[in-house]
Amino acid sequence: MNTYALANAGLRVSRLAYGAMRLGGAWDDSPLTATDRARARRVLERALSHGVNFFDHADIYYRGKSEIVFADALRELGVPRESVIIQSKCGIRLADTPAPGTPTRFDFSYAYIMDAAQGILKRLQTDYLDLLLLHRPDALMEPAEVARAFDALQERGMVRHFGVSNHTAAQIHLLQKYLRQPLVVNQVELNLLHADLIDDGLFFNTTPRAYAGIGGTLDYCRANAILIQAWAPLAGGALTDPAPDAPARTRAAAALLADIAHARNTTREALALAWLLKHPAPIQPIIGTTQPERLDACCRADEVTLSREEWYLLLQTARGASVP
Ligand SMILES: NC(=O)c1ccc[n+]([C@@H]2O[C@H](COP(=O)([O-])OP(=O)(O)OC[C@H]3O[C@@H](n4cnc5c(N)ncnc54)[C@H](OP(=O)(O)O)[C@@H]3O)[C@@H](O)[C@H]2O)c1
Repeated sequence: MNTYALANAGLRVSRLAYGAMRLGGAWDDSPLTATDRARARRVLERALSHGVNFFDHADIYYRGKSEIVFADALRELGVPRESVIIQSKCGIRLADTPAPGTPTRFDFSYAYIMDAAQGILKRLQTDYLDLLLLHRPDALMEPAEVARAFDALQERGMVRHFGVSNHTAAQIHLLQKYLRQPLVVNQVELNLLHADLIDDGLFFNTTPRAYAGIGGTLDYCRANAILIQAWAPLAGGALTDPAPDAPARTRAAAALLADIAHARNTTREALALAWLLKHPAPIQPIIGTTQPERLDACCRADEVTLSREEWYLLLQTARGASVP
């Protein structure tokens, strides 16, 4: 698998990452089952065999069970800690935790970040995280408090590098002003059917105002060597198996992917991911399938380079409209 340089972290990361969100069984407090454990082992073994070295988590995924089942699987597979890059996220507090009646909220307070990081390390059975991301912007963020937490985590050897998720350029700029460490990742939802970050640049100053207005986030990250990670890169399966009542543009994009895949003797999954890989930002898709055969189909993206014409045709088909 080809790699990207994560320059400000001194790391080389596989162009495709694996996201462990769906490995934890269910979003409830039911215990992990033997089936969950076997599934995690199989898909992680397959990811490693393809050269994937980057694994994404969050403290909330399946209420902590995704981190636990991942760590158990790595241990059972005998994977040395230093051979993989592990990232997790914190900052979202689910409703009814810790007490019934509390709302879903975001929390970037010093105490919460420190507490969350400790929980993550325990569940992942590791002394350190390669990267910790702030999961979703906290409207009540005090950047100086985040800076204090990041310093403490780094000084104690608990976290090596930091990043954000679902943040705009302005939010990153504000936070970065207070930090000693560079933010090296911004993880955002990005796929052919949800390309707001790309539309933002393409449709600026057009009439009617069709662009997303998210402040040049893609270009800001590119200019500051902040790696864009694409979550839900296959739109949760909608690009390969659209529902019969899916919007026309979704069905058209899926049909075009199937046609190109047939003509180029590759897979629809590979093409949808190659569309992200083609972007010079660059973009690292975070693959989420739990099925080894689908992972094989995804990893073929590393061999595919789309032409400019294919890239724009896919963009316009998935938008259901031309570029200006
Ligand atoms: N930062 C954030 O806010 C955020 C939010 C959501 C997710 N994430 C991260 O992004 C990762 C990926 O998200 P995602 O799972 O939504 O991404 P995805 O790769 O777009 O979707 C995977 C889902 O689609 C299904 N699927 C159906 N057909 C498929 C096919 N042909 N190929 C592959 N998958 C197919 C999979 O089911 P099967 O498992 O049965 O194949 C799985 O449920 C997560 O694991 C997590 O690490 C981050």
